[in-house]
Amino acid sequence: MPDSANPPIDREQPLSIAVFGASGDLAMKKIYPALFVLFAQGYLPHRFKIFGYARSALSQEEFRARVAEHLYCRSATAAQCNDLSAAFLASCEYLHGPYDSVESYQRLGAAMACFGADPAENRVFYMSIPPFLFLPVADTMHAAGLEQRPAGAWSRVVLEKPFGSDRSSSDALTEHMAHVFSEEQTYRIDHYLGKEVIQNLMVLRFANLIFDPIWNRSCIHHVSISWMEDIGIEGRGGYFDQYGIIRDVMQNHLLQIMALVAMEEPIGLDAKHVRDEKVKVLSCVPALTFNDILVGQYTTGVYRGAVQRGYLEEEGVAQGSVTPTYAVAALRIRNRRWDGVPFLIRAGKGLNARLTEIRIRFREVPGNIFARNAEFLSPNELVIRVQPDAGISFSIVNKVPGLDITLADSELNLRYESAFQASIPDAYECLLLDVLQGDRSLFIRADELQAAWDIFTPVLHDLESCQIRPQGYAFGSAGPTSAVALAALHGVVW
Ligand code: BG6
Repeated sequence: MPDSANPPIDREQPLSIAVFGASGDLAMKKIYPALFVLFAQGYLPHRFKIFGYARSALSQEEFRARVAEHLYCRSATAAQCNDLSAAFLASCEYLHGPYDSVESYQRLGAAMACFGADPAENRVFYMSIPPFLFLPVADTMHAAGLEQRPAGAWSRVVLEKPFGSDRSSSDALTEHMAHVFSEEQTYRIDHYLGKEVIQNLMVLRFANLIFDPIWNRSCIHHVSISWMEDIGIEGRGGYFDQYGIIRDVMQNHLLQIMALVAMEEPIGLDAKHVRDEKVKVLSCVPALTFNDILVGQYTTGVYRGAVQRGYLEEEGVAQGSVTPTYAVAALRIRNRRWDGVPFLIRAGKGLNARLTEIRIRFREVPGNIFARNAEFLSPNELVIRVQPDAGISFSIVNKVPGLDITLADSELNLRYESAFQASIPDAYECLLLDVLQGDRSLFIRADELQAAWDIFTPVLHDLESCQIRPQGYAFGSAGPTSAVALAALHGVVW
């Protein structure tokens, strides 16, 4: 839902988008394809241009050919798709230059102003660049006056995580960026918030009557949120080795999921109220300590019939690095709804599956009169599968049809693929549309970022200052064996 201050995009007003880091993977694989889908579905203004900016010296043709490789249509025939992609590519331009050259940015500014001044174009600046470049790019933009707009036009900046590497570096980044873009102009992306199933969390909880009365410590035993990948760091050693899995996935994607599972109902769907509730719940989470966390690092293993190298052998990884590729943390939420309910979150690369899911385990039925009819009665569990095979299932105990009373676990199962005809949009499609519409509800506000860093900063500093060596686990395994023991300490069976 758009902020009231930002009406939905006016298709008559031209739009110029600048993508910094345009030749990189994120831009090629996610940003351009998502913008193309928005174009193909009629969401972009009639007059728009997308200016890719990066250091690589590519010609227009080379750049467009690279963009074209990744474009896809979700709801058009192949012929329509070809015509659409030709029209889209004609609106994509590439400029190359250093990231700190005011002169090059002035050239970019002149190109962005190609539609004339009446009406002046709106501008989006997408920073698809490594974090150390955020400030130099923002400062150079400011020196070139790129973000300045006349009355009636806006400019917005989109930032990709990581936003700093701990509370103080994140605060410093926020403060410095604020000299160029106000908080209202800033869209901090956590692409998990754009995923369909994650967006459904609020709908599931607040548009259905049945969940609220049981969504608390009286009925819920624990919540676990798992994120697993069966790939390694895929050539991103330089970045990953500096950040590790806690900063790459846990402090943002998993904490955001947890906030949506645990927060109170916002009084409205606008950005302010949704984010107020997330900040409130995150502020009730005490900072993690050594006792609440376990870290691992993948070693050489055999997966899908091939030998996979260990993390320490990956390119760009420092010799003897203690950067975790796996972590599990037990979080608590000290508030009336959740006190005493562990939230276990785990994330790992180089595991034996690709999976993101939320499991909400309910308590056992007290004094269950059917206890004698089954060896073990499983407590109910709500499983929200984010990927792959998006879906929601609920396990219940059911009578097996027959003349005697035999009980068995059964599942109520909603699988997106069979339940809905529509194809699932990529998270970036949804988030980029929100940027154009001025809806910040799915983006991270500065105080939300602070609350998230406060939970992880002390333990990250401790792990790093003590150079804690992560436990090894073979690539393609289920992760370090002691993760099971940590979960068991919190009454969770993995
Ligand atoms: C990114 C992380 O934010 O999310 C990557 O930096 C990770 O390490 C990726 O692989 C996973 O995204 P998705 O959408 O494929 O689950």
